[in-house]
Amino acid sequence: MPIDRMTPADFGDVAKLIEAHNTNPLTQCLHSGEHADEIEALFHKQGALHYQLLREEGKLVGVLGCEVEEHRGYLHGPFVAGASFTQTAHALWHALQATLPLLERWDSFLNVRNEQGAAFYLEHGFRRGQGAQIYGMPAAALQPLDGMPAQRFTPDWTESVRFLHELAFADSPLEIEPFMESQDEDRALFIFAQGSRCIGYVAASLNDSPLEGSIDLLAVDASVRNQGYGRRLLLTAAHWLIQERGMPRVGLTVRDMRADARRLYQRSGFALLYTGVGYSREHTLPRRQL
Ligand SMILES: CC(C)(COP(=O)(O)OP(=O)(O)OC[C@H]1O[C@@H](n2cnc3c(N)ncnc32)[C@H](O)[C@@H]1OP(=O)(O)O)[C@@H](O)C(=O)NCCC(=O)NCCS
Repeated sequence: MPIDRMTPADFGDVAKLIEAHNTNPLTQCLHSGEHADEIEALFHKQGALHYQLLREEGKLVGVLGCEVEEHRGYLHGPFVAGASFTQTAHALWHALQATLPLLERWDSFLNVRNEQGAAFYLEHGFRRGQGAQIYGMPAAALQPLDGMPAQRFTPDWTESVRFLHELAFADSPLEIEPFMESQDEDRALFIFAQGSRCIGYVAASLNDSPLEGSIDLLAVDASVRNQGYGRRLLLTAAHWLIQERGMPRVGLTVRDMRADARRLYQRSGFALLYTGVGYSREHTLPRRQL
């Protein structure tokens, strides 16, 4: 099969193919963008994207992409239209592996109803991980902040925030460090403190595709839960994203097991958009290859 690496001349066609697949839950790959114009803009901006394409008689019929970050590959697809899914997806996967450096881990995140995608990843040695829900809130649904907003993080709080993060997200690879190391127009960290102790934090950032603000991390110390800190942190971040940074909507992902958080989001103006499942495959690399 004649498989080629994506070039700028392909951006428009690829973005349209992804948009068509991502509007259908049966073929949706979450986190690979929703709208063709946003996806195309991201292709122009981002250097670490590796996409393989299959064309038949000039028509694009298959796409598999990967975003590489710190020895990890985040897969987009496979997206196949008008060709055999199994054959095309396999061919794209082999081509992708041949062009990428050795990675420690591959991850994919599919709509829970995307069964052909799930079968593809399981067949290639991926393990099914936890389910997760994606919530969204349009700017118009932003609720008022009843009470004092959270304060902006400053480096004096580093140890205390790190301590709380390790307790709240012990089982998760989500990192707080990038938010503490640099805050700019695209990224912010807010906290609540009691004395010298951080009792809650929320991390937020701006996304290009989909174009939205994102709530990346939220945690409240177990000793002060159910007193309204979680809601005020969430709304402080949502106000920053929508009112200060002009985002048209705010999105977030929450894992299946976090029922407390899901109730909080629903009460605070967020609606469930999609349910997804992660698939991952790990490799142990010799140290010198890292
Ligand atoms: C999710 C989390 C941030 C919520 O924080 P929180 O400070 O307890 O949130 P709130 O106090 O605003 O809301 C929690 C509940 O307390 C209730 N509450 C708030 N103020 C109250 C008050 N003064 N008196 C009585 N109840 C109150 C709310 O109604 C809410 O109840 P409900 O969710 O059953 O409707 C917290 O549980 C947490 O850190 N969990 C672990 C990390 C996590 O799951 N993070 C989210 C990952 S995506």
